[in-house]
Amino acid sequence: MQAWGIGIIGAGGIAGAHASAWLAHSEDCRLIAFADRDTRRAQERAEQFGADYWYDDPLALIERDDINVVSICTPPFNHAELATAALEAGKNVLVEKPMCCSLEEADKMIAAAQKAERLIGVVFQWRFTVEFLRMRALIEEGKLGRLLLVQAISNWWRTLDYYKVWWRGTWEKECGGSVMNHAIHHLDLLVSLVGDVERVCAEMGIYCHPIETEDAASALLRFRNRAIGVLVSSTAVHMEEHRLCLHGELGSVTMPWRLVCADARYQSELEEWLAKIPRPELGGHMAVVSDFLRALKKGEKPSCDGLEGRRSIELAVAIYKSAITGESVTLPISPYDPFYRKEALMNYARG
Ligand SMILES: NC(=O)c1ccc[n+]([C@@H]2O[C@H](COP(=O)([O-])OP(=O)(O)OC[C@H]3O[C@@H](n4cnc5c(N)ncnc54)[C@H](O)[C@@H]3O)[C@@H](O)[C@H]2O)c1
Repeated sequence: MQAWGIGIIGAGGIAGAHASAWLAHSEDCRLIAFADRDTRRAQERAEQFGADYWYDDPLALIERDDINVVSICTPPFNHAELATAALEAGKNVLVEKPMCCSLEEADKMIAAAQKAERLIGVVFQWRFTVEFLRMRALIEEGKLGRLLLVQAISNWWRTLDYYKVWWRGTWEKECGGSVMNHAIHHLDLLVSLVGDVERVCAEMGIYCHPIETEDAASALLRFRNRAIGVLVSSTAVHMEEHRLCLHGELGSVTMPWRLVCADARYQSELEEWLAKIPRPELGGHMAVVSDFLRALKKGEKPSCDGLEGRRSIELAVAIYKSAITGESVTLPISPYDPFYRKEALMNYARG
């Protein structure tokens, strides 16, 4: 069996989760190198996780013949550039969320993967929770009836120090605030469970942090399947709360887990049915890496490939466009729309 050679670009916080997950799959892969523009970080991570090489130049890592998979753990602004360089060099790419900063970048990444005939996967680890798998099964089998109402709450607390890191809180480098970098998990759940959004009407503001990007936002959503919903998103809420509620004609289901049906007998039937769905063996980044290796070995798609990762970017961009223009936004966002490109958000930052 082939042992996949792994390189990790970006040796900061989340790189540790990637390294641990790759190492936990040592029957399939070998962790070879780290690259970080801060060489000291790359070296520390290499020593911590037993990789033999470290670089300050990500291209030096990408050029290695013994590396066939690159994990991208840098800030959002260079995901597209690094992923495209790796794909063009014939590597498979697992990129952290958010996939990139704009639809233009997402389309370039997808095109590069197609041209190189390599895989691109986007890290959305909440897709591997038992709640997600149960919700997906309920929806796929029509067990909730028609979906009518959806609520997503993505409230986080982030300190002033959190935003002192050079790339955070900027339109240029973080490419957004609470919506793009935190609620993006909920946006991914919404599009993957409920489906594509047709119209968005949003508001946002900066309330508690000295940053350029929003630390609170709210949005009204209308889905193509006619369900309607709300999203609230913040990094300034003292009482952290992460919740997704799907309300269907036949019952309501929430994450954290709760299932309620007005018809008690139907609820018991559903509970029995759900109990047969196998619980995931792995969670978090372990599950994402395991899924990516499955896709590599079988020549299949990972759970969240480039096209899937693009969907939450489009929703985030639509939320920003609506909040900036003060108008409701109809999706899809076309390549002729200024908001297809990152510059529209950067221009907003410049006033
Ligand atoms: N999936 C999750 O739940 C999760 C959690 C945290 C962070 N993330 C994502 O991971 C990414 C990184 O976040 P983090 O918290 O680890 O950030 P971090 O600041 O801790 O680490 C980023 C590292 O990338 C390096 N870097 C930047 N540009 C580079 C370049 N061109 N070449 C090489 N190295 C470069 C920096 O020097 C830094 O060490 C972000 O996209 C973030 O949204 C995901």
